[in-house]
Amino acid sequence: MKQADGQRISNRERAERWAVEFPYGWDADDAVSRRHLLRWAVMASGALFAATAGLAGLGFLRDRRTVAMRQIISADEVEVGGVHYFDYPGQDNHAILLRLTDDRFVAYSGKCTHLSCAVYWNSDRQILHCPCHEGVFEPETGDPIAGPPTRPLPKIAVRQDNGMIYALEEAP
Ligand code: FES
Repeated sequence: MKQADGQRISNRERAERWAVEFPYGWDADDAVSRRHLLRWAVMASGALFAATAGLAGLGFLRDRRTVAMRQIISADEVEVGGVHYFDYPGQDNHAILLRLTDDRFVAYSGKCTHLSCAVYWNSDRQILHCPCHEGVFEPETGDPIAGPPTRPLPKIAVRQDNGMIYALEEAP
């Protein structure tokens, strides 16, 4: 047999080189058998399946939060087209309750989605207004309709029950 440079090499020399580059003899054939490889692949698949099932289970548990009601105000105390400011969910979180019709209330976080200034109800213009940079939000949806804000005001779910307005909060 010839090398790339044209010189002949003996079979023995070739076997020695081969032994250096691939130092496994026939007796090492059992080191990694097909059966071992297959067993390893099955175990790896099982581990991946178990990890995926575990993550799915965690997601399921996270979705099983309960909803607690927190009292805001009596419905009679807010006139149609009127507003009530309250703190939600914490004491430092400004929130807005609007009475749009006789039986329709909506509530939003009162923190502007632009740079977090307080948002107020402007009854003359019938808009939610942020005075910092003239941001304007639509009262029915909380969507931004003018000024720099691009995201809607976060909505707070509310429920009327026995003449009382409640905010629905998630509890873990
Ligand atoms: S902070 Fe409200 S418009 Fe800028």
